[in-house]
Amino acid sequence: MVDRGKIIDGKAIAAQLRQELKSEVESLREKGTVPGLTVILVGNNQASETYVRGKIKACAEVGIHSDLVRMSPEITEDALLDKIRQLNVDSSVHGILVQLPLPDHISPDRILSEIDPDKDVDGFHPINAGRLVTGLDAFLPCTPHGILELLKRTGIEIAGKHAVVVGRSNIVGKPISILLQRENATVTMCHSRTVDLKSHTRQADILVAAVGKLHVITADHVKPDSVVIDVGMNRDENGKLAGDVDFEGVRPIVSYITPVPGGVGPMTIAMLLYNTCQSAKMKSR
Ligand code: GUN
Repeated sequence: MVDRGKIIDGKAIAAQLRQELKSEVESLREKGTVPGLTVILVGNNQASETYVRGKIKACAEVGIHSDLVRMSPEITEDALLDKIRQLNVDSSVHGILVQLPLPDHISPDRILSEIDPDKDVDGFHPINAGRLVTGLDAFLPCTPHGILELLKRTGIEIAGKHAVVVGRSNIVGKPISILLQRENATVTMCHSRTVDLKSHTRQADILVAAVGKLHVITADHVKPDSVVIDVGMNRDENGKLAGDVDFEGVRPIVSYITPVPGGVGPMTIAMLLYNTCQSAKMKSR
């Protein structure tokens, strides 16, 4: 009898990672480098406020210095670009993060392309995206990198497995598909125009759901004893945080599953701290 329905505890794995990073930060500080992250928050989107608060709190926990720059929703694109240019040349700043989404009159592409790629701890700059695809050293985007750590630290074999990714965003779907290929998985990409989604997802040894829609993956979408990673952060009919996967329906069928909350989410923040440490380390050499 196969052991089914095991939960991948992202909260615990992220706490372990933060513990490891805390010692790295200590040794950097002993050598005279205080890792520093600046977060820019434009406007007052409630979800962004919550995410940013989590990031700032996590920095403090591991000893990373953080600054929160708040900007009015009416700020011009030029003023935001100027702020980024100023942070690019500030040697105490190792990581720059512009929280998305931005107001409609500001182009996220222009803004993200202005960040020094060596301080791009979100891994969203086109140079880092290109480096990831070509297999060069790069800051990896935090959510996909966090998913990889969850799989590795849980001891899940990736090489030779069939991974199916649902969702093709630049932030999650595309980069996780590349990372899984790099780990020698065979990867299928599904998206909003995929015909007969189930016929693909049912073949997945590892299924990554990154759609952003409540419960699009149900019991009849999964293969017995597979591994399911849920990247969704949706609100259910009672206003509760819930994933792209119908957790209760899917859990009894699969070998491993990530919960929402407490799965991928905490890992995203942990990998941001990791990238900020990496950046500080590069500068301290
Ligand atoms: N908005 C939602 N997720 C993210 C993220 O990972 N980074 C940034 N900068 N903004 C986001």
